[in-house]
Amino acid sequence: MSAMTLHRIRREFGSTVALDDVSIEIPDGEFLVLLGPSGCGKSTLLRIIAGLLPPSGGRVIVDERDVTSLPPGDRDIAMVFQSYALYPHLTVERNLGFGLRVRHRTKAEIAEKVGAVADQLKLTSLLGRRPKELSGGQRQRVALGRAMVRDPKAFLMDEPLSNLDAQLRTATRLELAELHRRLGTTFVYVTHDQVEAMTMATRIAILDHGRLEQIGTPAEVYDEPATTFVAGFIGAPPMNLLPATALGIGDKVHVIAEGVDVELADGDLEERDVVLGVRPEHLRFAREEHTGPNFRGTVLAVENLGSEEVAFCAVGNAQIAVRGPRPLRVEPGDDVTLTAALSRVYLFDPTSTRRLLWVDDGAGDRGRTFRAAVGSSSTT
Ligand SMILES: Nc1ncnc2c1ncn2[C@@H]1O[C@H](COP(=O)(O)OP(=O)(O)O)[C@@H](O)[C@H]1O
Ligand SMILES: [Mg+2]
Repeated sequence: MSAMTLHRIRREFGSTVALDDVSIEIPDGEFLVLLGPSGCGKSTLLRIIAGLLPPSGGRVIVDERDVTSLPPGDRDIAMVFQSYALYPHLTVERNLGFGLRVRHRTKAEIAEKVGAVADQLKLTSLLGRRPKELSGGQRQRVALGRAMVRDPKAFLMDEPLSNLDAQLRTATRLELAELHRRLGTTFVYVTHDQVEAMTMATRIAILDHGRLEQIGTPAEVYDEPATTFVAGFIGAPPMNLLPATALGIGDKVHVIAEGVDVELADGDLEERDVVLGVRPEHLRFAREEHTGPNFRGTVLAVENLGSEEVAFCAVGNAQIAVRGPRPLRVEPGDDVTLTAALSRVYLFDPTSTRRLLWVDDGAGDRGRTFRAAVGSSSTT
């Protein structure tokens, strides 16, 4: 089948390091999403996989064959260009067959292949139409079909939904995920949109400044972010991150910041600076007197999202977001106390930015301790 390996890929443009030592194993049939902010190197990596751009260092391996120096046409990998790249004056049928015609395949061969692909993509009844007579989602399918007629080992897509309106994006997202399940072919998909990544990917590779921050399933990158960057990028609003200090108080270790006191359960964390993280949806308003992590602040603003509300609160010099079902029943100016389950509190190393790992000794929340080790199982 078709597994891909990106081995220590590096790419420089003059003094800009667009990709810095990126290694990813892509098993056959994966829907891998390359996710990160604008300029982090996603398109550069995709173009290197496609063969449209040579890496400055590293290797691209497809099915155990080193294709690093092969031209795009010899890689059996298809870049799916955006749907506006369809030929407007050609019918769906001629658009689908275009790549085969330029390769001088016989009429019979082209008709058979186009028919099969149209059938798979449910485009058979639309073969006589021109692109402007199609919906955005249908156009997207024709663009994909144009790549499919070549039977590639993998499909590469660079922000294919960015020109669609929100409603169409949602519908096309579902179609693409369904199509991937049906075809079982490897997809490598670039986006800066975390919702697209979370909803379609089998695994997400998160890039920042040309570096691979974490690769894991959507649940892994959400529940076990490897770094402060991943924690602060995924989620809406993303994880609250506050500079704090771990201090021994009595026989316990507390994580302290202005307005914040989190007593760790039998913590074996030494005294040190940390970054404390807690997701907005894991915080809840509490009474003055309560046990567990304590955050004290003042409500600054409340945003109505329809089914939920987000309250932004000043806690010391930091601002933290709290998300919950509407109404939260707080108003700007209210003094509030917040808490969360201890198991929902994350600690990170401020220097390496990596998460400090929970060690679960089997006794539930109360038995959990932090290991001050650096690293994460879900990062390669
Ligand atoms: N052809 C190029 N020449 C010079 N710099 C480039 C070129 N292509 C990309 N870059 C730079 O490399 C970095 C990564 O770009 P890119 O891969 O396009 O990011 P993304 O797709 O994640 O937005 C950016 O700093 C960008 O300016
Ligand atoms: Mg790009």
